[in-house]
This record gives sequence, C-alpha cells and structure tokens, in this order.
Amino acid sequence: MKTKITELFGINYPIILGGLQWLGRAELAAAVSNAGGLGLITAGSFANKEEFLKEVDTIRTLTGKPFGVNISLGTRRDMTPFFEGAIEAGVEVVFTSGRNPEGHVEGLKAAGTKVVHVVSSVRHAVKAVELGVDAVVAVSFEAGGHPGMDDVGGIALIPRVVDSVPVPVIAAGGIADSRGLMAALALGAEGVQLGTLFMATEECIAHSRVKEALISTKETDTIMIERPWRNARRVLRTPTSEKVLEMENQGAKIDDVLPLIGGQAYIEVMSAGNLDKGVLTLGQGVGLIQRITTVAEAMEEMVRGAEQVLARLSQVYGGADRQC
Ligand SMILES: Cc1cc2nc3c(=O)[nH]c(=O)nc-3n(C[C@H](O)[C@H](O)[C@H](O)COP(=O)(O)O)c2cc1C
Repeated sequence: MKTKITELFGINYPIILGGLQWLGRAELAAAVSNAGGLGLITAGSFANKEEFLKEVDTIRTLTGKPFGVNISLGTRRDMTPFFEGAIEAGVEVVFTSGRNPEGHVEGLKAAGTKVVHVVSSVRHAVKAVELGVDAVVAVSFEAGGHPGMDDVGGIALIPRVVDSVPVPVIAAGGIADSRGLMAALALGAEGVQLGTLFMATEECIAHSRVKEALISTKETDTIMIERPWRNARRVLRTPTSEKVLEMENQGAKIDDVLPLIGGQAYIEVMSAGNLDKGVLTLGQGVGLIQRITTVAEAMEEMVRGAEQVLARLSQVYGGADRQC
C-alpha cells in the first residue's frame, strides 16, 4: 500500500500501533513494525528515562524496521526526561498525545525527529499543525483510551480534520478490520492507528483474562468515565466501572475514585487480570474481535481483506457514466 503515511515513515502498510499504557512494549511494537506497520513503544509504561531507553535498545534488537515512541502528556508526570531520552537515543518518530505538545515539538524537530500529535477535534489539529507537527492522529468517539470530550464519531470527524489541516491525517477509533481501514482511507485519512485490536494479540502482555474479555465483549459493552475531569475515557462496562460512574454522578472527587481508575489499579487489571480491581480501557471496535491472533496474522487479515472491500466497492459503483 502507498499513502503519505507509508512514505513519511518508510513502512509497507499505513497501520500504526497506538500508545498503549503499560502494554506498549518492545515486543509488541517490534511485531507491528516487522509486519510492515509502525510500532510505538509507550514511554508512559516506564518508571523513568533509563528504563525507557533500555526498551528502545531492546526494540532495536527485535526489528530493523522503522518504529516510534508515544509520549503522553496527559498524566501528572513531567515527561520532559522521556523527550530528552528519545532525542538522545535517536528515535526517529515521536507521537505526542494528551495535552498540548508546545515546548516539545521544536526540540524534536530540531533533532530531525518526525512528530505526530494525537487530537480529538479539528481545533486541536489546527493548533498542532501551527506547532509544526508532520501529521496528526484524529481520534474519534469510538476509541479506547481518551477519545476527547466532543463525542464525535469517526465518519464525521475524520473528513473534517482532513479538510482542516494540510498534513496527513491518521484515523483512530473503532478500526479493527479491513473494512475500517478502507473506510478510513475513503474518508481521506492516510493511515490508521489501532489500540484495541493489538491488545488481542499473542505479543501483547495483557493477562489472558483481559484477552478473553476482549473476545466476549460487544460494541455495546463499553461506557465513558472521567467526564467530570474533562478526561473522558472509554472502558469495559463492569460492576467496578459502573460504580465509578455512579460515584462521579454523585459528585465524587478525583481522589475518591483514583483507587479504581489510577495507575496501580490499571496495572492490576492488565497484569493480573483482576477485572474487579480497576477499569479496563478498550474501544467499541472490540465487537469485531473474534479471536486472539499473532500481530502478523491480524495485519495480514487487515491488508488482504482490503482487496475484497475494493472488489465490493467497484461492483457497487461502476463509474459515473454507468446508468443507475
Ligand atoms: C488499553 C489502552 C491504553 C491506551 N494508552 C494510551 C496511551 O498511553 N497513550 C496514548 O496516546 N493513547 C493510548 N491509548 C489510545 C490508543 O493509542 C489508540 O488511539 C486507540 O486505542 C484507538 O482506538 P481503538 O482502541 O478503537 O483502536 C490507549 C488505548 C487503549 C485501548
């Protein structure tokens, strides 16, 4: 496949492993890169710059293909050391997300790094372009993680962002098969970023109970929490997440719900599979996931299926001069 995103990163397929807190490790990222996409290591998964740099060393032993890192600015941590580390280690691609990346883009660009910022609205996309990013990821309401506060689905958001910025747009949110990939390209995106689908792979270190939950979960089984703090997050509907929502509706403070939504609880869910101890972040595309595969299988299915989507579309639409 050839798009502005495959050309920007020098990859075969415009498919990107998005930042995945605690899960975005070298093995998973390398598997995506080796399969022809772009794998990202998630800097926020590491306690400090040294651990993060070790992971960058590790991925270089696992793949000779392009890879990148995701540095999320949404947390309470100062991520400056991770930006410095990425530059020191000569990481070629950095995806920023969360807050405004102002103050970081310039240094990265001066070091020759390609910078992509993750946004959930047109206005944030425009701002990111003003800062000098090379591309944006437009995350829509369907997404796992933090899909922003505007609640706009991808079919409306992606073309709006495409029409509003001069840089390539990567679509994210609810994309979990070749139909989603081709739909995103039809909407004007130059690539896709996936989170939930790559959680359901053998290379992902999520506990098997998390992966089983992905298989049995439908598109209707997620809810949004953390809205009172303007940090909306899509999670699996469980007694625990419903309790969080109820506490929020009753005016709870962030510190009251932190034991259930904070980092420790998240790790307990992801590493030990204790789904009642915290909340499980995932997107609506989970309804499309039927089985656990390797990353290579998931990518191959997505790319091969694209041909069928094209064949179907050309059957539906035979050309402007054909009689309806
Ligand atoms: C478990 C999980 C953790 C995530 N962690 C991060 C993160 O640390 N940084 C980030 O920028 N995005 C994060 N995301 C969002 C993904 O990078 C991606 O944009 C999103 O998953 C795309 O939607 P999808 O899940 O429908 O594919 C996370 C998503 C999930 C499901």
